[in-house]
Amino acid sequence: AHLWRGVLREYADRLGVTDASTVVTLGEGGTPLLPAPALSRRTGADVWVKYEGMNPTGSFKDRGMTVALSRAVEQGAKAVICASTGNTSASAAAYAAHAGITAAVLVPEGKIAMGKLSQAVAHDGRLIQVRGNFDDCLEIARELAANYPVHLVNSVNPDRIEGQKTAAYEIVEVLGDAPDFHFIPVGNAGNYTAYTRGYREEAERGASTRLPRMFGFQAEGSAPIVRGEVVTSPETVASAIRIGNPASWHLALQARDATNGWFGAIDDTRILAAQKLLAAEVGIFVEPASAISVAGLLDRAEAGIIPAGARIVLTVTGHGLKDPQWALRNADGSEVHPMVVDADTHEVAEVLALSRTE
Ligand code: F0G
Repeated sequence: AHLWRGVLREYADRLGVTDASTVVTLGEGGTPLLPAPALSRRTGADVWVKYEGMNPTGSFKDRGMTVALSRAVEQGAKAVICASTGNTSASAAAYAAHAGITAAVLVPEGKIAMGKLSQAVAHDGRLIQVRGNFDDCLEIARELAANYPVHLVNSVNPDRIEGQKTAAYEIVEVLGDAPDFHFIPVGNAGNYTAYTRGYREEAERGASTRLPRMFGFQAEGSAPIVRGEVVTSPETVASAIRIGNPASWHLALQARDATNGWFGAIDDTRILAAQKLLAAEVGIFVEPASAISVAGLLDRAEAGIIPAGARIVLTVTGHGLKDPQWALRNADGSEVHPMVVDADTHEVAEVLALSRTE
């Protein structure tokens, strides 16, 4: 069996890694690419899911963080800093812990999921809640990195994009070519940019014959790219992508134009319905922001723009356990109350409507 060694070692030649390079890794990448028959049936397409919640800290951020932390340590950094809606801070804190340096993480107060908050704390990140939104946090992080000895590890750091593009390498390797469409959630649009770069490199080296059309999705209440203007008070249940002024906005528009791509907005009700569908019918539990890929696919299929049999990959970016509260609500918003019974076999059989085998 081949033991996966993390993206920097697996793709050493393509990421400029040599025996002399510093490598800070937790074994990220090499995530499952799974067929989703329930989604294929619904859309008439051939649908696959890239399951990024299977990374070490539960999100795709780890692919970029291994590169960013490795380069930071190589350059002698003693501290890294990031702004985050939660996943970047969890990842930065974990990789900094592994490297033995400090991670300072700025998050919008009260607006990040409990799982992510607990990760930053567990890994001993210097967690600071800011009275403001993600965009405020990013501005502060950038100013601090420019004027103090702290190394910025947000996706405005090109090392992050370099690492994240490896997901596209893996997809082409498994499918034998690039898909026709790629669906992905969009916050800062760093990952959208990274996949486009990865797919382009694959085509350039002859590993694939095409660039997928890159379809990115923002939450209805946080959709600056779709609207074409900054959103000053972004709102959505998908807290990971509650971003009003995306850092990679310009790059994302270039990537869209180069791939005949598209940006769309999806409301929270449809995001949560898609989260439920993916968990209940495909067996993959993701956080709300990730479910927007699924909601986006259903939306575009309904709009009639998905050709029959088209090969489609959806990236689901973060694990459902990061933000479990939404799964514990019914579609009407009421709380789920799992049934309670006495410790009695007959009662359980009755509740399950089981009839005795002969
Ligand atoms: N999905 C999840 C689960 C995320 O955490 C993020 C971004 C995105 C999608 C969007 O990716 O920003 O590259 O367009 N999370 C960042 C964070 C902002 O701080 O964790 P993007």
